[in-house]
Formats: sequence, C-alpha cells, structure tokens
Amino acid sequence: MAIMNENYCNLKESYLFSQIATKVAKYVKENPDKKVIRMGIGDVTLPLAPVVVAAMKKAVEEMGVKETFRGYGPEQGYDFVHEALVKYYAKHGVSLETSEIFISDGAKSDCGNITDIFSDDNVILVPDPVYPVYVDTNIMRGRKIVYVKGTPENNFLPMPDDSIKADVIYLCSPNNPTGAAYTKAQLEEWVAYALKNDAVILYDAAYEAFVTNADIPRSIYVVEEAKKCAIELCSLSKTAGFTGTRCGYTVVPHALKRKAGNGTVMELNKMWLRRQTTKFNGVPYIIQRGAEAAFSEQGVKECGEILEFYRENARIMMETLDKKGIKYFGGIYSPYIWMQCPNGMGSWEFFDYLLEKLAIVGTPGAGFGEMGEGYLRLTAFGSREGTIEAMERMERSL
Ligand code: MLT
Repeated sequence: MAIMNENYCNLKESYLFSQIATKVAKYVKENPDKKVIRMGIGDVTLPLAPVVVAAMKKAVEEMGVKETFRGYGPEQGYDFVHEALVKYYAKHGVSLETSEIFISDGAKSDCGNITDIFSDDNVILVPDPVYPVYVDTNIMRGRKIVYVKGTPENNFLPMPDDSIKADVIYLCSPNNPTGAAYTKAQLEEWVAYALKNDAVILYDAAYEAFVTNADIPRSIYVVEEAKKCAIELCSLSKTAGFTGTRCGYTVVPHALKRKAGNGTVMELNKMWLRRQTTKFNGVPYIIQRGAEAAFSEQGVKECGEILEFYRENARIMMETLDKKGIKYFGGIYSPYIWMQCPNGMGSWEFFDYLLEKLAIVGTPGAGFGEMGEGYLRLTAFGSREGTIEAMERMERSL
C-alpha cells in the first residue's frame, strides 16, 4: 500500500496566488465589460532587455548548428554565468568563487528544494507576514515552524532575540510582501544570532535589484562572517524580467559547514552540489546565455531602465496613498506597496471590495500570515496607464 505524505493534509487548500487567480477568473467571466487592473501577483509586464533577447537568439542559432550544439550542461550552471555573477557581486562589495554559485530555474524552486539538505528535525523560523513558499514547503516536510512578528512598530522588520529557538531562518530583504529592507546593522544582528545558535539563514534576495541606496545591503554577504551561516537565494524574475523565462541562482559559500551527529564535517556547498546533480539537469543553455547578458554591463544598464519604470509606478502609487492619508510600507526599495486597508476593513474584505467595486486586483495581506491581516499588497509591475488608472479609481472611491 502506498502511504501518502500526510503532511499535505496540513496545507491550506490552495497556493495563495492560485486562489486569487481563481477568484479573478470568476469575476472576469461574470463581468466581461469591466477593465480589470492587475496589481496582485508580482509579475513583470515589460519585455526582456534587448541585449538579453539578442543573446538568447544567438544561442538558439548555436543550438541549430552541429559544431555549436550543446546537450546536457553542468547541473550547477555554465561557468560563463558564474563568472558574470562573480563580477556582479564584486560591484556590490562581495567576493565569491564561481563554485559557490548554482544556477537554477528560479528562487521559488530553490527555496523549496534547499530544504532537502536539512533534517526534518530542524525548527524553522519565518517572519510573519511571509512569502508563502517558505511555510508551505516546510509544512510538506512536517517541520516545526515558529514565527517572528512583523508589525508596524518594527517596520515589518522583525529582529532576533534570545527567546527564539530556531535552526533554519528564512529572511527576505527587500521583503516580499512588505517591501521593507534590513540595514546592514540589522543583518549583522541576524548573523550574530545564527552563529551563536549554529543556525543557518536562508536569505532571499530576489528583490535586491530594487535597492538604490548604498546603506541597504543587496546581499547578506556584505556582513562579515555571513558566509559561515547563510545561503543566499536570488532570481532574475524581477531583476531582468525573467518571470516566464525562468532563471535564478543560489549561493552556498564554501565556508558554510556543519557537523553531523558522528562528527563528520558536512560542507553545505558539497551537499547542494550532490542534491542538484542528482535531482536537476540544469537550466537550458539558451536561458543561461540570456542570464549572462542580463549581468553584463549593457544588461545591467538596460534592466536598470526597466526597474526605473517600475520605481516610477511605485512613486505614483505612493503619491495617491499619501494624498488619501493611507498608511503604507515599502515602495522605495521594492516593487511592493504594503498598505493598510482603509476603514478598518479586513484583508480579504478589502480585496473583494477592490475587485468588485473598482476592478483592481491586489493581494490580501492575510494570505501572507496572521500579521498581514488588515493589510493589502499592491505591485508596481503594471503598465503606466494601468497604474495611473488604478490610482484614479482609488482616489475617487476610497
Ligand atoms: C509574488 O507575487 O509574491 C511573487 O511574484 C511570487 C513569486 O515570485 O513566486
């Protein structure tokens, strides 16, 4: 008899963004005349940068010629992308070895897959509100999860304290969903906590490219000693508009080691390499050429212009909320604006109000955890016209 993984019984019925998609599809079907403005899932709308497209086209041509055709590539990615990333990190003050970088099909997959190298006995610490993937992937493994609370008082940036007992810590900065970003001093506290408790930090830096202020770290490795306690997960989804193209990377430093029960020293880099070579066949060559181009000087420039377009959307949104006197977080180092629901509405109540009365899709804060109740997340990834129109609708009706 096949025994199922009964931990799945402990999951919510559906993944947050699938639940929202179902609700929106129903609304669209029933209201075909309404122009729905989508500010829910953080999906980009601008096309790939020209330098990325050119690199991928060239790679397609190579794949069609016997002499340059490639079959299986290295599971951890081609060195040409590792090298591009080493240079990218160096610009932000972090020195990495190429063998510390693993190319993947995105940070969402790696956030879940990385749990393979940790025992199910670990206690997992997640901030609340939180990107639901951290929670659900650990529920699937039956792990104990503890929460640290993000509140308006701590600017949705919870900090460690000695009462917390945790082995694996998820941090996301700039944060999804709140848009809040840790300073270097705050990350130093988390690193100190992890080192003191022999814990490992899983640092999700998927939104690093939105940071423009030199005081906000774009990588946890700007903190000295972080390489002894942190894995960094990142993605090209938002940096270079790869939500549909799929490419990400995970950094596992060689300095990150833990002792097994029998005293064997386990290098997490080697474990992750073993996991990836066993369960993953790598990202397509064509996509990796696109990724390499995104991190080239020209790529960073072209992608930067795209990011600036989204930042301007965020500014337009913040202006409207300021006018209406609505409190919000984020929007500065992040494409997300985490707004308080007006008139004391609950998250789902406000979500329904926005959808049904204004034909705007947001993401209810409660979908990111208990502490998200009373908040709603809007994204700045829409078109300029859509963003302006949504703000006009909100200005008139809230
Ligand atoms: C979000 O909207 O939270 C993200 O787009 C989801 C993701 O990156 O998987």
